[in-house]
Amino acid sequence: MTDKIKNILNEQIREEMYSSNLYLALAGRLESWNLKGMANWMQIQAKEEHNHALGFFFFLLSRGQEPVLSAIAQPDLQGIDKPADVFAAALKHEQHITACINAIYEAAKEEKDYALESFIRWYIDEQVEEEANATEISDKLKMIGSEGPAVYMIDNELGARTFTEFIPGKTAA
Ligand SMILES: [Fe+2]
Ligand SMILES: [Fe+2]
Repeated sequence: MTDKIKNILNEQIREEMYSSNLYLALAGRLESWNLKGMANWMQIQAKEEHNHALGFFFFLLSRGQEPVLSAIAQPDLQGIDKPADVFAAALKHEQHITACINAIYEAAKEEKDYALESFIRWYIDEQVEEEANATEISDKLKMIGSEGPAVYMIDNELGARTFTEFIPGKTAA
């Protein structure tokens, strides 16, 4: 594995861990508004992001590299004052992560790292799903505004989400 690849993968562990912390922080904000269903959705999202980080962690190890964990920035919750802001922030963040994942794919091609090229495909597909989910919830919340029975209904809907343990490259889907 080249240094360029090693660095970009360690950097992605940090990105996914930041995602996990960001979503946990957003879960906390939702919970503080007593939107426990939305908070449940975000908390599961946080767990998934932790597993995305583990995917890169174990991929590095399986390629003979010890992963390097670096400092994770404090999640920035400024300007997040209503449910629609929470999911708009999640969508914006996922768009950033998509760009990171695409850059990894590019690097894999440049460095002719075929194992990485294969491994990263799961993440490419996952990002389509992530952006679609965040867009759907974000659009619904924009449509209905911040109060009223529709918010209560979406909160209930998102409360039904359950977590399935899955580590990319490690466990079966
Ligand atoms: Fe992720
Ligand atoms: Fe994500």
